[in-house]
Amino acid sequence: MEIKNICCIGAGYVGGPTMAIISYKCPNIQVEVVDNNEDRVNQWNSENFDNLPIYEPGLAKIVKKCRGKNLYFSTSVENSIRKADMIFISVNTPTKKKGIGAGMASDLKWVEACARLVANYAEGHTIVVEKSTIPVRTAEVIKSILEGSDHSTNKIKNSTYEVLSNPEFLAEGTAINDLLYPDRVLIGGENEKAIMSLSNIYSNWVPKEKIIHTNIWSSELAKLTANAFLAQRISSINSVGALCEATGADVREVARAIGSDSRIGSKFLNAGPGFGGSCFKKDILNLVYLSRYFGLPEVADFWEGVVKLNSWHQHRISKLVVQKLFGTVTGKKILILGFAFKANTNDTRESASIKICKDLIEEGALLFIHDPKVSSKQIKADLQIDEDIYLKSKSESQITHAEGGWCAIETITSSIDNADAIVILTEWKEYFDIDWETIATKMRRPAWIFDARSVLKDENISNFGLNFWRVGDGSKNNISNLLEN
Ligand code: NAD
Ligand code: UGA
Repeated sequence: MEIKNICCIGAGYVGGPTMAIISYKCPNIQVEVVDNNEDRVNQWNSENFDNLPIYEPGLAKIVKKCRGKNLYFSTSVENSIRKADMIFISVNTPTKKKGIGAGMASDLKWVEACARLVANYAEGHTIVVEKSTIPVRTAEVIKSILEGSDHSTNKIKNSTYEVLSNPEFLAEGTAINDLLYPDRVLIGGENEKAIMSLSNIYSNWVPKEKIIHTNIWSSELAKLTANAFLAQRISSINSVGALCEATGADVREVARAIGSDSRIGSKFLNAGPGFGGSCFKKDILNLVYLSRYFGLPEVADFWEGVVKLNSWHQHRISKLVVQKLFGTVTGKKILILGFAFKANTNDTRESASIKICKDLIEEGALLFIHDPKVSSKQIKADLQIDEDIYLKSKSESQITHAEGGWCAIETITSSIDNADAIVILTEWKEYFDIDWETIATKMRRPAWIFDARSVLKDENISNFGLNFWRVGDGSKNNISNLLEN
């Protein structure tokens, strides 16, 4: 079946970039990305390509090339479904907040709503593709909604369906590259013709040997498992980092040593402030829920440990900041560098910065938060604390009397006066080469630099009389102790 019209429901971090690449690589296919969030759609259609709702390197250029030719963003969900030969469901699947499985299971209400929309409006033969990350056996739910929907309506509309699983493996910040040169494309399904229709789209730019076909349940489970394995590596290296700090070892050296074993590999071994992002935690918790549901408590406990370690590690960093600043941060001025969950994205979902900032504000710290791509509106939404916009302009004496607050800052240098500490939480390029000589003259002594991303060079900091802590680096212990005393 040759696909001429694609509809993607969900114009988010996955739907937007994925469809941009399909339209770019398949000029003969009309691609419409639909979303019921009007603001988001308007942003995708904005004349200024700097205002797209998602910041992703290389994305704006591709949207500019394709939008209006064979790539469209719209709120006309029903119309788009009607026209489509293939529909991608790319909506959010967050963790359930209440009811059975609350805090663990994925909330499938958005996926279910999409299946119902497709059942109501699709005409002719439609291939429905699960792009969202979902629990294993969700395809069954989608199928039963599609097929179980009013049979007479299906007959009148002459509707038939095939459901495929095609999970997305892109990472934010590198989405365009990941989509253009994927390690693999995974397609799970039963119907050979439907599988080939989707494979043929990808084979416009992905080598055939990288397009893997599996049964539908393996495909669904492989997505959850891939994220669980990746997150597990981060918790593993962060746990080793804590041990390094306690023993005088350096986690970067340990990572290099173990990563050069080809069976282990060197990627995803960077110690940091703990993994964030919208998916790792929710996908593992989903795996935990499924394991318990299927009567495998040991399996559930194993994976739950990955999330627990991550959470412990994030609190460990905020505690450590407090301890190093003489056990109290009340009224102390701390610059937070980076609020996004990783560099090159404006996404803050589950960012380690949220937890660490909340902890520090709770302790009474005055946070001056910098991020090149995250707005103060977003920071406010994440911290659920109003911005203290007067903080920036308060005189030093007023600041020392204040307790617990935050404000967003545009530049580091304009806000550094009398700061007690800087905490680097996102590895933005611009934090690699800060002018420490100038910074050092402006901070209040003893001043601390906490590098939770290992982006700084030791000598650049210590040479200017600043105390320096780097995640997982126990070799710093002696230097820090000396300076502290
Ligand atoms: P997102 O929240 O950025 O986007 C989802 C969009 O779907 C929203 O704009 C929302 O308005 C829209 N939507 C929800 N229900 C709708 C409906 N009934 N009709 C029309 N629009 C509707 O989410 P995301 O980050 O793009 O993630 C989507 C899925 O992809 C999730 O299952 C996620 O786990 C998975 N995933 C995400 C990433 C990532 O990097 N963010 C990577 C791989 C997989
Ligand atoms: C992750 C996966 O890498 C993607 O394959 C997957 O498609 C996606 O989740 C998803 O399903 O949503 P993403 O969360 O965008 O992608 O970004 P990652 O690069 O995986 O980083 C996740 C978190 O781990 C970030 O907070 C990052 O800073 C942290 N991280 C990553 C480390 O602390 N150390 C590392 O070595 C690597």
